[in-house]
Amino acid sequence: MNIEEIKDLRQAPVGVFDSGVGGLTVAREIMRQIPNERIVYFGDTARVPYGSKSRETIIKYSRQILRFLQTQQVKAIVVACNTASAYALDELEKETDIPIIGVVKPGARVAARETKNGKIGVIGTEGTIGSQIYTNYIKKLRPEVSVIGKACPLFVPLVEEGLLKDPVTDEIAMRYLSELIDVGIDTLILGCTHYPLIRSTVRKIMGEEVTLVNPAYETAIELKQLLTQKGLDNPEAPHLGTDRYRFYVSDAAEKFQRFANSILKYGILSAKTINIEEY
Ligand code: DGL
Repeated sequence: MNIEEIKDLRQAPVGVFDSGVGGLTVAREIMRQIPNERIVYFGDTARVPYGSKSRETIIKYSRQILRFLQTQQVKAIVVACNTASAYALDELEKETDIPIIGVVKPGARVAARETKNGKIGVIGTEGTIGSQIYTNYIKKLRPEVSVIGKACPLFVPLVEEGLLKDPVTDEIAMRYLSELIDVGIDTLILGCTHYPLIRSTVRKIMGEEVTLVNPAYETAIELKQLLTQKGLDNPEAPHLGTDRYRFYVSDAAEKFQRFANSILKYGILSAKTINIEEY
């Protein structure tokens, strides 16, 4: 590669994908922590949710998204969806030379490091919890630790309905989390893209003593390290008004835009709809 090609590669975007809007919590952390990086985001809004689908289906969808992102000349890929990270990351790694990371390992690593009493809770979709991926990874790092998983399927629709601070969300959270309180966990992984948006509800119920781990935040840290290590980090901030952040969805672009504008600091002007089945 000559100097110009290396420069172009460093300025290439990072691909971030999720089953829908939730992965914007990961994109948001990347925007905050590594503002020099461009992002191409894909949200699979036509086929959301992934959390209740089978491994085979999630692998098939994730492969199509990988192929789409490859057409966008991305230099690295972040699987922002916990469920897709659980089921498809290993398969995707086999299919591309592009460096690719998921959200599970960064979150699991921090939880394993933070726990003092050796009791970690994980909340996520049915798929993520059923896969046992957080448990297996934490146990590899610290076999003596116990991990208690709890699927919280109602949290995703509550967040998407905008009920971030609402008595209904409080009530449901109480039912889901009481089991984890009874066990006496001291660390809780917010193992789903949407959960950082109801962090304050979870905090209120779990109390100040429990460490809340946000995999979105830890993933942005890991991405930064990865780009630096590989010499892929963008040394120049892209000019405002250029296509710094681009958003693609498989359906309902306007709804996606509204959600994005409610959580991102940068207003997003448009999200483009593509036919992901073509990839
Ligand atoms: N993005 C998914 C996750 O983090 C939650 C939404 C869904 O079920 O697709 O697991």
